[in-house]
Amino acid sequence: MTAPKKLFVKTYGCQMNVYDSERMAEALGAKGYVTTDVVEDADMVLLNTCHIREKASEKLYSDLGRLRGLKAVKPGMKVGVAGCVAQAEGEEILRRSSVVDLVVGPQAYHRLPEMVEAEGRLVDTEFPVEDKFTLLPERKALRGPTAFLTVQEGCDKFCAFCVVPYTRGAEVSRPVARLLEEARGLVAQGVREITLLGQNVNAYHGEGPGGVWSLARLVREMADIPGLERLRYTTSHPNDMDEDLIAAHGEVPQLMPYLHLPVQSGSDRILKAMNRKHTADAYLRLIGRIRAARPDILLSSDFIVGFPGETDADFQATMDLIRTVGFGAAFSFKYSARPGTPAAEKTPVPGDIADARLQELQALITAQQRAAQEAMVGREVTVLYEKPGRLPGQMVGKSDHLHAVHVHDPEGRIGDLVRVSVSASSSNSLAAEVLLRNA
Ligand code: 5AD
Ligand code: SF4
Repeated sequence: MTAPKKLFVKTYGCQMNVYDSERMAEALGAKGYVTTDVVEDADMVLLNTCHIREKASEKLYSDLGRLRGLKAVKPGMKVGVAGCVAQAEGEEILRRSSVVDLVVGPQAYHRLPEMVEAEGRLVDTEFPVEDKFTLLPERKALRGPTAFLTVQEGCDKFCAFCVVPYTRGAEVSRPVARLLEEARGLVAQGVREITLLGQNVNAYHGEGPGGVWSLARLVREMADIPGLERLRYTTSHPNDMDEDLIAAHGEVPQLMPYLHLPVQSGSDRILKAMNRKHTADAYLRLIGRIRAARPDILLSSDFIVGFPGETDADFQATMDLIRTVGFGAAFSFKYSARPGTPAAEKTPVPGDIADARLQELQALITAQQRAAQEAMVGREVTVLYEKPGRLPGQMVGKSDHLHAVHVHDPEGRIGDLVRVSVSASSSNSLAAEVLLRNA
């Protein structure tokens, strides 16, 4: 028997890429590759890239620069570039970096095993008619208690700043039967929490028994899988939050009280320029309906500051919206012009102004995040243990509200769902004591 070949995968960007990296590693596993955390040991290096902001795509080229030295001493090592930069730049990557052997887009990676065995430098950024999911090997890696499951890909919204509709293509939903099969398979391997993924996940409209199913219907069906204790979904667009999905937050106990619902801006003028197709008030009313269904829900969002044309008044409208909603978490970004998007043609806000706004916004979000965490102190919550903590006898997991929780629990095992009492809040996590095992 020959020694297994080693694969090193680096994932940039979103959770969808985390999922894709896992599937690519499994696909190469069928060709005898085992994964390694040590890049120097690798026979193949796969960089699964992100194109959403300029900084994210630049990382690829700095990492490729670093790989040049390694490839000089290990000429047999293959280097593959996958993900959204691969999709957006294709051949250009081969021209810019001589270390790259393969470029494979997010819709073509089921062809990776053949590409690895072929001679020469190859590019595949097609959106093939065949569905990659039906051609990938079954998921059978040993895994922890939480998993991602891609249910929908691509986006038809065309927000003026965003490359996703170009790199991931039009919105496509996977059929219900395949998703239930994949979810049951994950649960059989010990998964107790699944996060349903999609660039625009709540626009899900997959073929199912009796016709087209919505995300709400899919969530309700998945909640009936025995052993599947928790469900989450991300990322959603406000305009696709239908009444049934809102109701599910009040009715499906497995659906966790956490919702990431990006608003991007609180100014109607900027929302219009962003092509978001909703107003700040419509967002606030939506939040009201969601909170009526699930009063303790923790809300998170994405914000962009310094979008072309953003004035101080526009920015203050965003700050007002944040104060009105009260978020438990949020991601915020300085606007980054992306080639090919409509907003890239417009005059940008000066960098120092955008930087100052970003700082101001992040300070407010951090304060809200801390307050939401501190409000948990003294409360009982359920934690799903994901890994041992740094201290002896300590376990770390997530609460229903997605707070990281440290628990002193020498009997604790990964995958336990434990009822705990929160005793303290620090900057990024909670501390808690065990109340009840096997909650
Ligand atoms: N510049 C800055 N932030 C962006 N995002 C998407 N495109 C851009 C861009 N060009 C942010 C949005 C989105 C998140 C995933 O990334 O806030 O919701
Ligand atoms: Fe990009 Fe999200 Fe807008 Fe789609 S809805 S274009 S993925 S920001």
